[in-house]
Amino acid sequence: MNFTNKNVVITGGSAGIGFATAKTFIEKGANVLITGRNADSLKTASANINSPKLKTLASDISKLSDIATLEKEVAESGNKVDILVLNAGIAKQYLIEETTEEVFDDLFNINVKGLFFTLQKLIPHLSEGASVILISSGVSVSGYAQMGAYAATKSAVDAIARTAAIELADRKIRVNTVAPGLTDTPMNQQTPEDIKNAIAAAVPLKRIGEAEEIANAIVFLASSDASYISGSYLSVDGGVTIRR
Ligand SMILES: NC(=O)c1ccc[n+]([C@@H]2O[C@H](COP(=O)([O-])OP(=O)(O)OC[C@H]3O[C@@H](n4cnc5c(N)ncnc54)[C@H](OP(=O)(O)O)[C@@H]3O)[C@@H](O)[C@H]2O)c1
Repeated sequence: MNFTNKNVVITGGSAGIGFATAKTFIEKGANVLITGRNADSLKTASANINSPKLKTLASDISKLSDIATLEKEVAESGNKVDILVLNAGIAKQYLIEETTEEVFDDLFNINVKGLFFTLQKLIPHLSEGASVILISSGVSVSGYAQMGAYAATKSAVDAIARTAAIELADRKIRVNTVAPGLTDTPMNQQTPEDIKNAIAAAVPLKRIGEAEEIANAIVFLASSDASYISGSYLSVDGGVTIRR
């Protein structure tokens, strides 16, 4: 797969899945713009990837003014976006009866509202035949304790993806969802090892995922090898979803 001269935008590209995806696209020749809230994390990501093909922008997806800054950056580049990866997201785990309004709003403002309006503002900047990939989660279609609000945000992501796949099809734009299972990223740094091991034991492939494995699925869906795939929900989870 060669992405030379392709322009990629990845929200939340300074760490984890977004970072691995940016690195993979750069290795395959693309120009990549990554966003994130923390400017220092973006600097570190940029130093690690160390390529003139990588650009960074400090932008908080939950703020409409920051989404406008991202749109301006894209517009002023003079290039259309060939691949948009809506990846930025947070996870918070609480029982439904312990979920506060603040937790609920944080999750929905970033995972749903931010994703929705980033998509909306970048739609005019997508090239004909572009590929849009939304990062969901296996919990969007299965039940786990303490995941109520987070899982609801990811079910909303699935719904947005289905709608966008229909609305953008006239421009030959493909829209797909990647649904990772538990993946070894900074998001899960606080998860105790024994819990990670217990989750891994329930995965048919008996381990949790690596960020690069999710990146490979994203890159595949963005490629011409996936030219007839739109509206799909691709589980990348070692088979755990079929267990539920
Ligand atoms: N890791 C998993 O087990 C797993 C499983 C299923 C689904 N997912 C989904 O995969 C996506 C990536 O997760 P990850 O594990 O790679 O997470 P991560 O390691 O925590 O990285 C998240 C990235 O998103 C950025 N980000 C967070 N909030 C943002 C905001 N408001 N505006 C802009 N950027 C923001 C972070 O940078 P800043 O903090 O500097 O903003 C960072 O670059 C998320 O949508 C997550 O829900 C992850």
